[in-house]
Amino acid sequence: MEFTEVISNRRSIRKYSDKPVTKEEIEQIIELTRFSPSWKNTQTSRFYVILNPELKNQIAEQGTCDFSKNKLNIQSAPALVVQTTVNGISGYEKDGSFTTSKGTHWQSFDAGIACQTFCLTACDMGLGTLIMGIFDEEKIRKILNIPESESISALIAVGYAEEKPEMPRRKAVNDIMQIF
Ligand SMILES: Cc1cc2nc3c(=O)[nH]c(=O)nc-3n(C[C@H](O)[C@H](O)[C@H](O)COP(=O)(O)O)c2cc1C
Repeated sequence: MEFTEVISNRRSIRKYSDKPVTKEEIEQIIELTRFSPSWKNTQTSRFYVILNPELKNQIAEQGTCDFSKNKLNIQSAPALVVQTTVNGISGYEKDGSFTTSKGTHWQSFDAGIACQTFCLTACDMGLGTLIMGIFDEEKIRKILNIPESESISALIAVGYAEEKPEMPRRKAVNDIMQIF
């Protein structure tokens, strides 16, 4: 796919076919996600890949804060990726102080860049994704035994799309840009 097509064609997918996603496909996505830029090249994103249907269902049942839409989204997808970031590194000096006035902001910033690289790579491979921000961090931490040294940044559903959603309306360039 052309680069511009990948960017404009990627959609959030909430209905997936039964076709499984393989470990190798996820590895291929993460292989490219590794090239994402990050604060001082600290590369703090980690990816917990859930292909086991029972474990995925446990996260859908217990880790979605009773937000039933995300429960269904996770159940529909053959794969779920829990993206975490290692705390206390991105945006910090070696002595533990913040480098900028924006505090912990850069950790999430790095996570977002990596997440988008992940989703665009998946799109280029013909796979659909859905980023989910509504989840129960502590329940998922417990289920996957994620250490306290990491924060859960996002859940990403992955699979072959069984829908072709319209693009939600985007603001015009002139609404979001100012030239001086
Ligand atoms: C940080 C973030 C959190 C999101 N959380 C959810 C979510 O919890 N559930 C959901 O169905 N979609 C979620 N979305 C998907 C957005 O609703 C979607 O990206 C937006 O409507 C634009 O649609 P598009 O991705 O198809 O372009 C999230 C997206 C982002 C970037």
